[in-house]
Amino acid sequence: MALKKLVAGNWKMHGLSADLAEVKAIADASRNFPAVDVALCVPAILIERAARAVPGFAIGGQDVHHQEQGAHTGNISAAMLLDAGAVLTIVGHSERRDAQRESDAEVKAKAEAGLTAGLQVILCVGESLAVREAGSAVETVLAQLDGSLPGSLGGKTELAIAYEPIWAIGTGRVPTSRDIAEMHAAIRARLVERFGEDGAGLRILYGGSVKPSNANEIFGIPNVDGALVGGASLKAADFMPIVEAAADGPGSF
Ligand code: 13P
Repeated sequence: MALKKLVAGNWKMHGLSADLAEVKAIADASRNFPAVDVALCVPAILIERAARAVPGFAIGGQDVHHQEQGAHTGNISAAMLLDAGAVLTIVGHSERRDAQRESDAEVKAKAEAGLTAGLQVILCVGESLAVREAGSAVETVLAQLDGSLPGSLGGKTELAIAYEPIWAIGTGRVPTSRDIAEMHAAIRARLVERFGEDGAGLRILYGGSVKPSNANEIFGIPNVDGALVGGASLKAADFMPIVEAAADGPGSF
């Protein structure tokens, strides 16, 4: 099944007021590619201004707390993201799994909190270089997925999985097309096993050093339904060719 591609930018800890011009440039240019869903996950403090600057364009957060409210200094709830104008959020990014010691169980709770509140959720999984070299990338990522997937989808397909090999993030290194195809097929099979027909409708994004120069090839791989883009999403000049590649690719309609 060909799914509409989603190309989401993850700005990580980049972006000040002055960069809202870049958000606007990306949102404006994205209107030329209605066959692709485009989104930007900006730092939390920029969400409200970004959402106001580009009505109708999908602005997201990069994390969400699993509880609705409470004594959680520094954290942000799903209701707060929505209130600020976000329509989606990333959960379980490897940088948070590592630096914030987020477990699969926490990521699962975050995904459930986001979906329950009505956010679209991009749930990240991915193996380390040591695991890849040991030949156990697929089983490791599937185990991560088993621990992180929400208990149910409630008949909706607002969940996307982002396969982001840790060793490919910000390094310029990308797995072979064969390895990406193998992983995405394994993730797809697991999603269908877990969620039946709904699992076939969930988008599986690839992330890790996606650039204008490799986007075409990546989007041509079966079960690659979009991309989660870090560094190359900060400037419209780098990001839009990636969106364009997704629009040209075989899966889009
Ligand atoms: P890069 O595109 O900079 O490698 O980052 C990928 C990523 O971590 C997106 O979430």
